[in-house]
Amino acid sequence: MSNILEKITESNKTIREYSDIIPDIAIILGTGLGALADEIENRVVIPYEKIRHFPISTVHGHSGNLVMGKLEGKPVIAMQGRFHFYEGYNMAEIAFPVRVMKRLGAKTIIISNAAGGMNRNFQRGDLMLISDHINLMGVNPLIGPNEEKLGPRFPDMSQAYNQKLISLAETIALEDGIKLHKGVYAGLTGPMLETPAEYRMLIKMGADAVGMSTVPEVIVANHMGMRVLGISCITDLAIEGVVEKVHFQEILDAATRSEPIMTHLVKKVIKNIDL
Ligand code: HPA
Repeated sequence: MSNILEKITESNKTIREYSDIIPDIAIILGTGLGALADEIENRVVIPYEKIRHFPISTVHGHSGNLVMGKLEGKPVIAMQGRFHFYEGYNMAEIAFPVRVMKRLGAKTIIISNAAGGMNRNFQRGDLMLISDHINLMGVNPLIGPNEEKLGPRFPDMSQAYNQKLISLAETIALEDGIKLHKGVYAGLTGPMLETPAEYRMLIKMGADAVGMSTVPEVIVANHMGMRVLGISCITDLAIEGVVEKVHFQEILDAATRSEPIMTHLVKKVIKNIDL
């Protein structure tokens, strides 16, 4: 993507034809958070295919929507549907919507995903705050010429996930009796799940959970100086020595069961966030 600034500007222009809301918070409604879109008030729904330069889904016919409106009284912009590397998009394409949401005004981004749990203390359906990540995708969205107006050539990643937001989520979880772990997310390309040897390797590396998303968006959000909060829904377990056969439907079912708690937690974070 060479003239990236122009592309962002043109994307914004199309979005501004639908809504003039200036969002404070961006949300990527990954697995486990889909229902949150329905709770956005006065919402304007913009199909991705209407937005210039947004990735086009060639696989599913329609790829998703940007949803703008208010949540807990705060202006938000949410991605209903995200793009994965395993679908064939390149890294810059996957992260492009994050750049657009930042330009629209969002300084904070909340990202959810489904992940396999490898920590012995985890149970299926638990939630995990992402404290840090390991990028094992082999690529990243910042490779290529750097646009200084967006961020530095060598961005710092020493606090890729914002400590204040983590503390806020932990406080809320404590108050409301939500079981909430904290750990390291390893991002792999997928789409296959891991072999037992791969899970062993990931555990040795220090990962607590593994998934196929989030890392590209978080890298770009950090490049642009956004505050990030990441939450994984632990949909299946790969504890050392007990890697079980996983059916993808079980992953989706576990995420659906955790959705009300994840939604509650994220809404309360948004309510109490200081902007
Ligand atoms: N591995 C990778 N991605 C996943 C998993 C897993 O076990 N569960 C949900 N997404």
